Amino acid sequence: MKIDIIGAGSLGLLLAGKLIHTGNEVRLWCRSVEQCRELSNSGLTVNYEEDQAEIKISGDQFISAPVRDFPATYLREPSEWIFITLKQNILHHILPELLLPLRQRQIHIICFQNGIGHMEMLQELLPLADLYAAVTTEAAKRKTLTTVFHAGKGETWLGNWPVGKHMLGKHPNDQDEVKVISLLEALLLAGFTALLSKEVDTMIYRKLLINAVINPLTAIWRIPNGGLLVSKQRMQLMRDLYTEAISVYEACGIAHDVNAWDNILEVCESTAGNTSSMLADVIASRATEIRWINGSLVDMAERSGMAVPLHRWICRLIEGMSVEER
Ligand code: PAF
Repeated sequence: MKIDIIGAGSLGLLLAGKLIHTGNEVRLWCRSVEQCRELSNSGLTVNYEEDQAEIKISGDQFISAPVRDFPATYLREPSEWIFITLKQNILHHILPELLLPLRQRQIHIICFQNGIGHMEMLQELLPLADLYAAVTTEAAKRKTLTTVFHAGKGETWLGNWPVGKHMLGKHPNDQDEVKVISLLEALLLAGFTALLSKEVDTMIYRKLLINAVINPLTAIWRIPNGGLLVSKQRMQLMRDLYTEAISVYEACGIAHDVNAWDNILEVCESTAGNTSSMLADVIASRATEIRWINGSLVDMAERSGMAVPLHRWICRLIEGMSVEER
């Protein structure tokens, strides 16, 4: 299967490495020319903690190129799927211009972001596209420009966007269905637990809640996820953020699990040693995704006429950590 992956961060490298290893034709689109060069010279490596052998892909087994060349290449030689593994801030910054030449094409896209807002943006930008949102719990950490550490196996849920599109009168197009099933098979073969969901929006909001509680606190305190559970004060602040977020969900009519709090604690436990993506951004002095995580809760609250002082405050705290925050 021919797949374009836009974004060569931790998740992009992980997906690329495992999909190339199982025989797919992958073009990996990077933001820096330096990374493209490194990938074609040294190839791509996926490694694991202990018993599992690392995956080594040589540079001639795939194409790595600067992302600005993507639209022209795609128009000349389309792929079956485009995966977008860019962070929210970068996605909103570069995709409108990058994907404009594909506006009239019936392309197939899967988006793997934390937070919300990107699907609506893509829907408007690409009215003819077959869009899927992905929610993944795969834990990956980029160690170098060409090496990713697969820290923990998770699940990846894919769902057509907007949710219920096919239920609103349109019959699912058989070809699209065959296409998504072959993609699921390719992901399964590559070792991912990939599943289809009819409620991917609920899953997105479930993950948003987890990220809105774990990510900013781990980033401010510079602790791994498990470090949140080791003191009463930390857990109280988590609980306060959680309670405020739940009141937003309730005001906006967004479904949430009755055991959502326990889920957050379980995520902290099961990823205890992991550096959250926001902490990784802060450590690397990169802009964070706070605007699309806690910031989106603030926007939702505002639209419902509610005050969310904690989420508003935590956004400002994180934004103030980097001078490049946009
Ligand atoms: O953003 C992240 O790092 C992850 O979504 C999560 C679940 C917080 C685990 O680190």
